[in-house]
Amino acid sequence: MNISTVGVVGCGLMGSGIAEIAAKSGFAVKVREVNADALAAGEKRIRKSMDRAVAKEKLSAEDRDAAWARFTFTTEVSDLADCDLVIEAIVEELEAKNELFVALDELCGENTIFASNTSSLTITDMAAATQRADRFVGLHFFNPVPVMKLVEVVRTIATSDETFDRAFAFAKALGKVPIAAKDNSGFVVNLLLVPYMLDAIRQLERGVASVADIDTGMALGCGYPMGPFLLCDFVGIDTLYKISEIMFDEYREERYAPPPLLKRIVTMGRYGRKTGMGFYDWSGDEPVPLPI
Ligand code: CAA
Ligand code: NAD
Repeated sequence: MNISTVGVVGCGLMGSGIAEIAAKSGFAVKVREVNADALAAGEKRIRKSMDRAVAKEKLSAEDRDAAWARFTFTTEVSDLADCDLVIEAIVEELEAKNELFVALDELCGENTIFASNTSSLTITDMAAATQRADRFVGLHFFNPVPVMKLVEVVRTIATSDETFDRAFAFAKALGKVPIAAKDNSGFVVNLLLVPYMLDAIRQLERGVASVADIDTGMALGCGYPMGPFLLCDFVGIDTLYKISEIMFDEYREERYAPPPLLKRIVTMGRYGRKTGMGFYDWSGDEPVPLPI
């Protein structure tokens, strides 16, 4: 069974990137958001990213227009019924994800594969809520999706070989480098990356150095593309908090526990670059560290 039509549910930071690369790779893409405003914001994000690629001469205007013509934008879940693959990229909450997958399970044909882009939930917890656990995988992309080459392809004990192979081939067709991961919370990358980000916050709480100096230290001292606080703002502080809660709940290890400062920042509504404030103020040309 070939994949030709891809559904992407959730068009925030990740969903917009996944939808963009799928359309650019020749797939018909149906994007679903919760309401017209969120849909318009997602559509705008995809447009802006593709226009930027054209301005940088990484994409021709002709290819951008061809990709644009492959999109359908909708607020109706039922419009995804004929998709060959549905990739979920909504908020990191099991209840919301399962509500969506149960609805899709009723609507979609028996050959449709379901995939989640979750950062920290197990695929098993979603697959078990449907009648198609054998056709359920994790497809974990990295932010920013158009740039980052990796996709973790995650199989549960119930995922069929055929489903895994189709998902793996799909990731390759997007020009990504897939790796096979087992279904444990955090898969491969977040198992190591999330404790690092949380530890940076803990060191900030201890007063080791400022946000800017810790970031400069890790970027220049280790050759990382950005320091941990810029990365937190980039990922989304709200999302990092949810990831931390889920991983701590799973492993009960201190290194996954959300530091109190992380919770304070979420409570203040400072979700990072996407809302204009996190550890940094993003309103100007360059991010400026905020008082913590
Ligand atoms: N969309 C599309 N392209 C983008 C982009 C975006 N949002 N942001 C940057 N780019 C492109 C730029 O166009 C540029 O391309 P060219 O070199 O071809 O012109 C390239 O990326 C580099 O961009 P910049 O020169 O503007 O900036 P940079 O050199 O600082 O790179 C970055 C930006 C690629 C984001 C880099 O800083 C980086 O790799 N940061 C770390 C990202 C990371 O660790 N991601 C993983 C997050 S964790 C995760 O995703 C998992 C999870 O579950 C939470
Ligand atoms: P985000 O907050 O930017 O976007 C989530 C979007 O989902 C919002 O636009 C929201 O309106 C929409 N949404 C919520 N419920 C919906 C529903 N039932 N149907 C359709 N749309 C719905 O979040 P994000 O950063 O894009 O994260 C999405 C998922 O990807 C999460 O599971 C997250 O853990 C995972 N992820 C995030 C990153 C990252 O760096 N931010 C990286 C990899 C994976």
